[in-house]
Amino acid sequence: MRRKFIVGNWKMHGLREGGTALASDLAGRMLGAGDVAFDMLLCPPATLIHTVVQAVSDAPVSVGGQDCHGKDSGAHTGDIGAPMLADAGCRYVIVGHSERRQGHGEQSVEVRAKAAAAHRAGLIAIVCVGETEAERDAGRAMDVIARMVDDSMPEGATAANTVVAYEPVWAIGTGRTPTPRDVAAMHSMIRGRLATLVDQPDAVRILYGGSVKPDNAASLLHIDDVDGALVGGASLKADEFWAIAETC
Ligand code: G3H
Repeated sequence: MRRKFIVGNWKMHGLREGGTALASDLAGRMLGAGDVAFDMLLCPPATLIHTVVQAVSDAPVSVGGQDCHGKDSGAHTGDIGAPMLADAGCRYVIVGHSERRQGHGEQSVEVRAKAAAAHRAGLIAIVCVGETEAERDAGRAMDVIARMVDDSMPEGATAANTVVAYEPVWAIGTGRTPTPRDVAAMHSMIRGRLATLVDQPDAVRILYGGSVKPDNAASLLHIDDVDGALVGGASLKADEFWAIAETC
């Protein structure tokens, strides 16, 4: 049985005061709720990791980075090594987000190296894949995602150290989402693909991301093979993020 996983990706948003308040609010809700049907992860910008780790320290809330380098350390100005994230209190790191693939030219081979670096540091890698609108319109979405999964998954990936996030690029921040039928088909294909790449493929959590909001969360999160959500915009408001989580 895969437990639902609700992940907030704050992207490049948040200063210390607001970030602390948001993390403390969610930590308080988790503590107050007691038994919940989901795990919660917050991925703040790197500058807030320490603050957020402290704010959620008493609550069942994990903290993750939004990216890491494929090498453990070195002369890479501006980058963050996976061991640094682990040292700062992270348990997870997102790799291969489309905003990294598109905005920074990252290819799957680099994403794969980043996921491997995360594993070496003892972190759980959240490996993102997603097709563009042009690729979907051309009927190539399945092929593109199959290839991205194949090429991004490092050797030694297991259900314990890897999560996959399917995020159609055209659904991110746009208010548009694929139909539940399309999401179901894609997640099922991804799980099939994992069978040859990952130990215990049936136990790997596959998240959906892209304009997840309180009003569409239930229809997305109750699809077979959708094991949670990677939430951007709505993760910046405690009420919205919590409402999404509560649909689990
Ligand atoms: O990492 C999160 C995704 O990019 C989704 O962002 O919920 O703002 O569409 P969004």
